[in-house]
Amino acid sequence: MDLSQVPHSKSSNCRERGEKKRERRGERREERRGEERRGEERRGEERRAETVLGQRRKTKEQTVYEMALLLRLGSQLSSCWSNFSILGVFLIVFTLLFDFMKRRRRWSRYPPGPVSLPFIGTMLCIDFNKPHHSFNQLHKKFGNIFNLQNCWTNMVVVNGYKAVKEALVHRSEDFADRPYFPMYEHLGYGEKSEGIVVARYGHAWKELRKFTLSTLRNFGMGKKSLEERVTEEAGFLCAAVNAEGGHPFDLRFLVNNAVCNVICTTIYGERFDYGDETFKKLLHLFENSLSEEAGFLPQLLNVVPILLRIPGVPQKVFRGQKAFMDFIDVLIEKHMKTWNPAEIRDFTDAFLKEMEKGKEAEKSGFNYNNLRLVTADLFSAGSETTSTTLRWALLYMLLHPEIQSKVQAEIDKVIGREQSPTMKDQVNMPYTSAVIHETQRWGDIAPIGLPHMTYRDTELQGFFIPKGTTIITNLSSVLKDEAVWEKPNEFYPEHFLDANGQFVKPEAFLPFSAGRRVCLGEQLARMELFIFFTTLLQKFTFVLPKDQPRPREDGCFALTNSPYPFLVQAIPR
Ligand code: HEM
Repeated sequence: MDLSQVPHSKSSNCRERGEKKRERRGERREERRGEERRGEERRGEERRAETVLGQRRKTKEQTVYEMALLLRLGSQLSSCWSNFSILGVFLIVFTLLFDFMKRRRRWSRYPPGPVSLPFIGTMLCIDFNKPHHSFNQLHKKFGNIFNLQNCWTNMVVVNGYKAVKEALVHRSEDFADRPYFPMYEHLGYGEKSEGIVVARYGHAWKELRKFTLSTLRNFGMGKKSLEERVTEEAGFLCAAVNAEGGHPFDLRFLVNNAVCNVICTTIYGERFDYGDETFKKLLHLFENSLSEEAGFLPQLLNVVPILLRIPGVPQKVFRGQKAFMDFIDVLIEKHMKTWNPAEIRDFTDAFLKEMEKGKEAEKSGFNYNNLRLVTADLFSAGSETTSTTLRWALLYMLLHPEIQSKVQAEIDKVIGREQSPTMKDQVNMPYTSAVIHETQRWGDIAPIGLPHMTYRDTELQGFFIPKGTTIITNLSSVLKDEAVWEKPNEFYPEHFLDANGQFVKPEAFLPFSAGRRVCLGEQLARMELFIFFTTLLQKFTFVLPKDQPRPREDGCFALTNSPYPFLVQAIPR
């Protein structure tokens, strides 16, 4: 035995044991660490699980919360919706009730009429392009006095001679007012300036009407009387007709020029040549402005004036009227530059002189704006009506050559071929007068006149009509009243002749209306009709061109009832 090796083996055993112990300790440490790691992992997992669980819980809670929120929102919405529908139902009921209250006619003995529909009233019952036709049909159904409603505006239509006379003549003041026309505001119509035609019944209207009537009557103020001016214009008209050289032509423009020139002479003291560019423009603008007033839209704008507040609407719908007024402004301003109070040349001068009179005159409506509006009134009321009547007269001469021959025979007998006709000749010319009057009756130029309005509560043929009701006087039903006229639907000059061939004027001849608002230009119109008509028939025979179809005898309506365009040949006599 190697002794040296004994201690060595002992120590190596010890070392081995020591190493083993260390290994075991290391292993145990490792195990501990492993356990710790696993523990941590477990805890981590637990934490993650908790987090996930937490998150899930949170999501669940959130979902529940959101669901609750949605449910709340939903319930709020549905309550809102039901609130809305309640509000909507309430609004509809309120509007219908309001509309019903506005359209309700609570008066007993109020005239009957067609069923009034919500909001639009009876507007669908009327053909606004031929209102007199619709009125005549309703007249047959409801009688002489019936009611209508343009939206919320109460209207009463008066038909037949008896009822119209009672309203306009016997109760003249009760029916003397005019309804308000909001559609004219953009032209300058307002409280202090309403012109004459659409002015409310009152002080300013009375003063302006009185002034205009006396100024027209006293037209000896210039160098020539009004009659002389008309006679002079008839001469110009004949010259222009002669210039057509017997060829077919449309009389419309020449007659229009002549009649407008009479108004121009009255207002501005001067006439225009028929070829004058300014004159042509004036007539063109005037024609456009008239056509804008007919039809459904202006009616609607009048009864629902809020529509006129829509920017651009009045400018667009009434462009022609605005241009016409602008043109009148130019003419008046030009006139004012040469104004001399010591020399009154015409209507404008006389009006300017009234304006100079200060506050009293201002109260009576003599202001610049009224000068424009009265001027425009004379143009619109005085030209189209007269020239349309003349066209009807010549149309009837074409259609009834035997009547034309009788008129010419009377002219030849009373005036001769050379001398100009004067108003004095009229009394000696019953047949010609009868033809002119029958033309006015049968031509039915202003079939529904102008609207009136009741000035106070009143009665008519046992019916009650409250203050502020718009009144339509159906003049057409008077001029064709079967109870008055022998042959209401024929052109029959004998309506105006008695058994001895003398001129008679039946009371139902109301083409100029009657009462306080009767046509202001009646005298002038009658003078123009007589002088223009007799001068034309004195110089020419009017015939239908050979290749032309027989012209229509019915009229087309645009405020006035005018003949459809036709051509004539004027053969010099
Ligand atoms: C044949 C030609 C004419 C006829 C058929 C005629 C017809 C009428 C009619 C039916 C009225 C409505 C009356 C009413 O509201 O009840 C009227 C009013 C009027 N006419 Fe004439 N007219 C003619 C010529 C003239 C002329 C030449 C002028 C002027 C120069 C004129 C100026 C007026 C005026 C200013 C009014 C409104 C009167 C007022 O409200 O006080 N008319 N016309």
